[in-house]
Amino acid sequence: MITVDEKNLTFKLDTPNTSYVFGVIDGKYLCHFYYGAKVSDTDLSFLLPDIRVPSLNKRDKLAFMDLAYFEYPTVGVGDYRPAALEIESDNGARVCELNYVNHKFIHGKPELKDLPATFGADTDSETLEITLEDKCAGVKVKLLYSVFEGIDAITRSAEVVNTGSERLYINNIMSTALDLRNESFNLLTLGGSWGREKNIEYRPVGRGFQGVSSERGISSAQEHPFIALTTPEITEDAGRVYGFNLIYSGNFEAMAKLDQFDGVRVRIGINPATFRYELKPSESLQSPEAVMVYSDAGLGRMTRTFHDLYRKHLIRSPYLHSKRPILINNWEATYFNFNTDKLIDIARQAAKSGIEMLVMDDGWFGNRFDDNRALGDWKVNEEKLQGGLARLVKEVNDLGLKFGIWMEPEMVCPDSDLYRAHPDWAIQVPGREPGLARTQLVLDITRPEVWDYCFSCIKETLGSANIEYLKWDMNRPLADVYSAGLPADRQGEFFHRYVLALYRMQEEVLKAFPKLLLENCSSGGGRYDPGMLYYSPQVWASDDTDAVERLKIQEGNMLIYPLSSIGAHVSDCPNHGTGRTTPFDTRGDVALFGTFGYELDITGISD
Ligand code: DGJ
Repeated sequence: MITVDEKNLTFKLDTPNTSYVFGVIDGKYLCHFYYGAKVSDTDLSFLLPDIRVPSLNKRDKLAFMDLAYFEYPTVGVGDYRPAALEIESDNGARVCELNYVNHKFIHGKPELKDLPATFGADTDSETLEITLEDKCAGVKVKLLYSVFEGIDAITRSAEVVNTGSERLYINNIMSTALDLRNESFNLLTLGGSWGREKNIEYRPVGRGFQGVSSERGISSAQEHPFIALTTPEITEDAGRVYGFNLIYSGNFEAMAKLDQFDGVRVRIGINPATFRYELKPSESLQSPEAVMVYSDAGLGRMTRTFHDLYRKHLIRSPYLHSKRPILINNWEATYFNFNTDKLIDIARQAAKSGIEMLVMDDGWFGNRFDDNRALGDWKVNEEKLQGGLARLVKEVNDLGLKFGIWMEPEMVCPDSDLYRAHPDWAIQVPGREPGLARTQLVLDITRPEVWDYCFSCIKETLGSANIEYLKWDMNRPLADVYSAGLPADRQGEFFHRYVLALYRMQEEVLKAFPKLLLENCSSGGGRYDPGMLYYSPQVWASDDTDAVERLKIQEGNMLIYPLSSIGAHVSDCPNHGTGRTTPFDTRGDVALFGTFGYELDITGISD
């Protein structure tokens, strides 16, 4: 519920167990007052004389700016803590001060332009829009705050509009910033590596910057767009925690900084280190959405809140609430060495065992006999699949199984017909040889002709037979970043534009195939984030299928993401990655804490 005290310009967001309070100080500054356990009072004037928000009239301005708690802090006017917004005016000044203009109550939850975001109906969600402005810089900022019935989460985002007559640059646009008093907080993060995603790690919050970020173009396996501040006594069911998750799949930053007065500022948003966005007069830019969850009943309540929010207000798939088909994927069964007969053999045996879908992984197209070639050539390899997809899918369907397929649409191998025809479509700097990873380059899908090609390949493939599932893979980070489609002074927009182009492609694929079950993947869990969950109800959690190691990886995932979203399979033993042998039961039990499926040569194991 959202309550507005019109007289004092104080705003209160209530969820079942939490309250978030902020308001206007000295008629212009939007300051943060409180976030924590639910406050029942409706008169919140007792929060106003708080030592941290003294009246500006009694002090020099900079003393105030240096210590007040701000809802959306800016660069250049005396707040020296990490900012939510940095504006560079056409004259080069990097100074912006946001003052309150007005507020608006909105029933429901507005969509965010071109970005995945939580959704809600008029009956189960409420939104507060606060407009701030800097007349001198010619900037208006609209802050959105939403709450959802029965869920202890608050979502926030910001839209920046150029209201001036000159162009300006946004060097930093955070989705949320939050000032809190330190409670000997620890910072909880979910970093890792390929095959070791989402390790739950704690470190004390000290002075200086502490946080995580990605510069890889994807949210990444190395860091994750989630941080939490936890009190020292935290357990599953006791202690306090503030969790922050970003609904975004590209370069992000999430950090906390302890200040001179023992305040902690948290911010989360697009990574400013790789970002600079031009706004011409009247143009605007929407930030991704951040989710904030407070629990004073330990990590468990935070977990359940994120799960509820994502199941009810983020994941849109028709499969969300239905039992997912138990699938068998041929990757660890055959790698690149398969043909129609082999796949049919697997399907025949799988059908007898109650498995419901065969997924054909990498290697079915072009000259793809190994991982050194052919990405981009999405034409069936008839040497492997005699009779093409139509025959294979029909025979699999005749055995009573659904059929799913693997693609990696954003990529191109130098050894491919696509690259030979359009070498310039790969992301690269003119005159510099781009670095390869897994012998592949990334396509510049921000360019319309490249986007159209990738989209048409997916559409043609999915439309060519009864294909009910797509595993959308992405197996390398971005490097040598430069877009032939952008002028020199707009190259700083590239990483964000890449993510927007990706989102648009997944949206259009789902529009064209509304019943499709989409599973995202990026060398395992390299892009397993809430942005991707908006498009796919499940994400392949890790290339590490060892049941014992999976316990840790899946625990990290289920800290914030619903079990129904965790792609988990029973694989062969000794495990191909670790060499460990675990009982079949153990492998089954672990995979059941996810979407459940198999990834082994079922024709080679006993009944
Ligand atoms: C990486 C994925 O995570 C694997 O499951 C598999 O699909 C390979 N790519 C195929 O190249």
